[in-house]
Amino acid sequence: MRIDLGERSYDIVIGTGLIHQASSYAGLPAARQAWVVTNTTVGPLYAAGVQAALRAHYAQVEVLELPDGEAYKNADTLNLIFDALLQRAADRKTVLFALGGGVVGDMTGFAAACFMRGVPFVQLPTTLLAQVDSSVGGKTAINHPLGKNMIGAFYQPQRVLCDLDTLRTLPPRELAAGLAEVIKYGPIADMAFLDWIEAHMADLVARDAAARAYAVQRSCEIKAYVVGQDERESGLRAILNFGHTFGHAIEAGMGYGQWLHGEAVGCGLVMAAELSLRLGLIDAAFAQRIRRMVAAAGLPTVGPILPGADNAESYMALMRVDKKAEGGEIRFVVIDTPGRAAVRPAPDALVREVIDACCLRE
Ligand code: NAD
Ligand code: GLY
Repeated sequence: MRIDLGERSYDIVIGTGLIHQASSYAGLPAARQAWVVTNTTVGPLYAAGVQAALRAHYAQVEVLELPDGEAYKNADTLNLIFDALLQRAADRKTVLFALGGGVVGDMTGFAAACFMRGVPFVQLPTTLLAQVDSSVGGKTAINHPLGKNMIGAFYQPQRVLCDLDTLRTLPPRELAAGLAEVIKYGPIADMAFLDWIEAHMADLVARDAAARAYAVQRSCEIKAYVVGQDERESGLRAILNFGHTFGHAIEAGMGYGQWLHGEAVGCGLVMAAELSLRLGLIDAAFAQRIRRMVAAAGLPTVGPILPGADNAESYMALMRVDKKAEGGEIRFVVIDTPGRAAVRPAPDALVREVIDACCLRE
């Protein structure tokens, strides 16, 4: 499918056997040098095949393996990319290929946005989460100790190749994490898709190939539509952050990497549904339905107690630096009515009630 962003439009290709095929890379920007940026887990599995395929198009193809994990999504690791590019005389035409999950994709994209003020990059997502969400739409970033994805840029890739074969090696916990972002699309945009996910959750968990392919395809369609309407999140795109305000607080509050991003988002979906319920926007049955689906995906539905004397305040302090916050006021993505989301503030007292109701008690 194509994501329509004027001169920044590009193809999202979904299929099998893609990343190791030279033809998948035809028509990309020409250059002498290409880099496969990956990590120490994904590199040994897939980088050699990608490197071989890229040699049909680029005279020099280098591989850089970054340390693996959300805890490394930071400025030090970003600098490893710049160090390598400069040491090997990369130039303004050099093309970066992000081979990995959302961490590699977000960091490589941000490196591409910054290096020599911008070089082309291509997303080769290898996690379900990256195939259904992070590789599409051009959000790139690193974390800051005070907030998730706080330093970054909107910078679109030249192409996204979602090779479903790579998901075969994905550990079950990571597969579940990706399902959080799949579930997200239903309540915010497409109730028919929510019905489908609910009916096929067991197939998705069991790695049924046809179910997985449809989940990736429909998720990318919804994401491409939303980003096509609002590339830089001046409005509509914020709905894609359903569950993320609570989720980002969990990730940062627990320490990056303790809770997987998708786990935190899964729990965040439950908390955001609870907030929507308490705001009188949805009924208890719908909030319960979201909770059931998150649980069926194998994701946590109860929030952790964050470090600090007052758990609700720990959440609120982290949520006040969320990118949707304005003038210190936290703004949440809520379900206005099933299938449609809105962004709005909520009274602190109500948010505290939600946190108290949704978090583990000691
Ligand atoms: P990840 O990149 O950390 O990957 C998860 C784990 O799976 C890692 O250990 C990785 O090495 C391993 N892995 C990746 N592919 C594999 C494969 N095929 N086989 C075996 N192991 C494999 O995590 P993620 O869930 O892919 O991405 C989460 C990140 O994405 C977060 O940093 C989040 O902020 C970001 N994100 C960005 C956007 C966006 O729009 N840019 C959207 C959602 C999430
Ligand atoms: N994952 C949220 C966004 O791309 O806007």
